[in-house]
Amino acid sequence: MKLRATGGRIAGLRPRTMLMSGAAAAALLVSTALIAPSAHAAASTLGAAAAQSGRYFGAATNSFQLSNSAYATILNREFNSIVAENEMKWYANEPQQNSFSFSAGDRLVAHARANGMSVRGHTLLWHAQQPGWAQNLSGTALRNAAINHVTRVATHYRGQIHSWDVVNEAFADGGSGARRDSNLQRTGNDWIEAAFRAARAADPGAKLCYNDYNTDGINAKSTGIYNMVRDFKQRGVPIDCVGFQSHLGTTLASDYQANLQRFADLGVDVQITELDVAQGANQASIYERVTRACLAVTRCTGITVWGVWDAASWRDDNPLLFDGNGNKKPAYTSVLNALNSVSGPNPTNPPPTTTPPPPAGGACSASVSLNSWNGGFVATVRVTAGSAAIRGWTVRITLPGGAAVTGTWNAQASGSTGTVNFSNVGYNGQVGAGGSTEFGFQGTGTGPSGTPTCTAT
Ligand code: G3I
Repeated sequence: MKLRATGGRIAGLRPRTMLMSGAAAAALLVSTALIAPSAHAAASTLGAAAAQSGRYFGAATNSFQLSNSAYATILNREFNSIVAENEMKWYANEPQQNSFSFSAGDRLVAHARANGMSVRGHTLLWHAQQPGWAQNLSGTALRNAAINHVTRVATHYRGQIHSWDVVNEAFADGGSGARRDSNLQRTGNDWIEAAFRAARAADPGAKLCYNDYNTDGINAKSTGIYNMVRDFKQRGVPIDCVGFQSHLGTTLASDYQANLQRFADLGVDVQITELDVAQGANQASIYERVTRACLAVTRCTGITVWGVWDAASWRDDNPLLFDGNGNKKPAYTSVLNALNSVSGPNPTNPPPTTTPPPPAGGACSASVSLNSWNGGFVATVRVTAGSAAIRGWTVRITLPGGAAVTGTWNAQASGSTGTVNFSNVGYNGQVGAGGSTEFGFQGTGTGPSGTPTCTAT
């Protein structure tokens, strides 16, 4: 569905307001070249050009778009990172409370893995696009449901997400620099840090980001977020990165780069997360200046555009790098040239390396922790490799009579009653020597009490 930016409220935002308010007051200053040209051969795609400095260049996409071959050709050729435009949002993957629907997001992750792309996760908690059942909750019930959502989704995708937008758009527009009122905010001001702690526990390997719009320069809103991030860093709340959506109009704030840098100086990575720019004479120039600003900030680890081509944009002003026929626009060339103007790895974000799988065999053990209630349970199972790395595992668990598995995550179950074998899925079979991974299942009846057996494959 193509959304019209002039068409009223979308996801609680007024797109036109969102596009302009951060930049309207800024003078249009033509930036000077910030990075000296390098001697290496120019890369011919956005992803390859960004990888020269250890950065990613990504695009928002939806699983249904992957079957459009012209679209997929561009996506696969140009981008080395993807983010789910909608399919990892709360309404999409937990449509009923505690009933998860991961298939569309899984398809995106599988596509990314098959094509050597990293994945940004978007988004664990947001005041908008909540499922109806969550909109109807408040207080402790909502807080518990929200943290459960963070835990379950981040656990499902554990090990597969480069960076999670843990919390999206929690600050108000305008000059207050304060939190936005929302049902989540009304559960208590600590809801954001609670979400970050839960995400860290569920997926310790993912970078955890706060993400927002109208933060494209030093202004009251970005300063409110800056103060929160500084406070989190001081108190040890696990935050790793800040996303600057950068839905831009026809001007760019002159302090766009300085704003990125002040966040980086707090000790977090920064990323451009939803870049799109209004069509018009300045489009290519603004794209170039945003790209150069990221390249000039060592901790700016990647750029994502909010769609592959204009036909797929949520906006109606052709804000992307490819036109509706898949042709490269001048903005594309300006971004590619900017990316090609730097070389040398960014030390904070080395390119991913691939390691060969370990040999077959080895040993493993498993332990179960249970969260039970009258009539049901959730089991979390930890699989630990022995003194050698393993390439796959199967855990055998016997359920008491009357118990049945109703849902499994991060593993494939052989059945639902009696003795059930849980085998690794594609992404969590390999476990390093002495390392561990977790899967879980929920069920009705009484949870298992015996010791599970683990066989390495
Ligand atoms: O999937 C339903 C479909 O079943 C139904 O028939 C149709 C009827 O309207 O709606 C479809 O859902 C739409 C969904 O996109 C998928 O197309 C929603 O109505 C629509 O509101 C939703 O818009 C998305 C919006 O976020 C709200 O989630 C946009 O595509 C997406 O680009 C936009 O992205 C946001 C970021 O997540 C956060 N930052 C701002 C950015 C732009 O608003």
